[in-house]
Amino acid sequence: KANLPKGYTCRPLSNKDYGRGFLDVLKVLTTVGDISEKMYLARFNWMKARNDSYYLLVIVDQNDRIVGSGTLLIERKFIHETASTGHIEDIAVAKDQQGKKLGLRIIEALDYVCEKQGAYKNTLVCKDHNIPFYEKCGFKRGQNEMTRYY
Ligand code: ACO
Repeated sequence: KANLPKGYTCRPLSNKDYGRGFLDVLKVLTTVGDISEKMYLARFNWMKARNDSYYLLVIVDQNDRIVGSGTLLIERKFIHETASTGHIEDIAVAKDQQGKKLGLRIIEALDYVCEKQGAYKNTLVCKDHNIPFYEKCGFKRGQNEMTRYY
């Protein structure tokens, strides 16, 4: 996708990305824990087998180090004459790379995929302090989130 700072590119996550900083980037979101390469590949392959529904994009720097990532899930519905809808999850930009519009570009790329896949909307859940960021990405406040933790 265009408009990234010089030297940065956006691409799908690959099976070779273990050790390229992907798991470190996710640590800006929450606990990641110990993930072995075997675990990484098992999860990667599970998603790859569902690549019409899971889209995991990363932004890499000139050394192919992952500096940002984001996930889009396409959910298929019966309502609205079997419509599809997108869910954005786990948007993460490495702490020392924030503020360079990388987060915005990840959202733009995922939004592009979502629309191309024929979804009629794209939804995400975020904390209050991230609302201004998502508003700048063109999202509007929607309904309330309800969660049960197990
Ligand atoms: N408050 C106000 N404005 C903000 C904020 C904020 N917290 N974050 C970004 N912005 C603004 C920027 O100033 C910029 O505005 P401008 O166009 O006027 O200059 C615009 O939003 C785009 O910002 P980016 O530079 O693209 O933001 P960045 O690359 O830093 O990514 C992100 C934002 C993803 C929230 C990043 O800070 C991050 O990884 N935070 C920690 C993890 C996190 O909270 N992720 C989101 C979880 S919610 C979810 O995944 C659905």
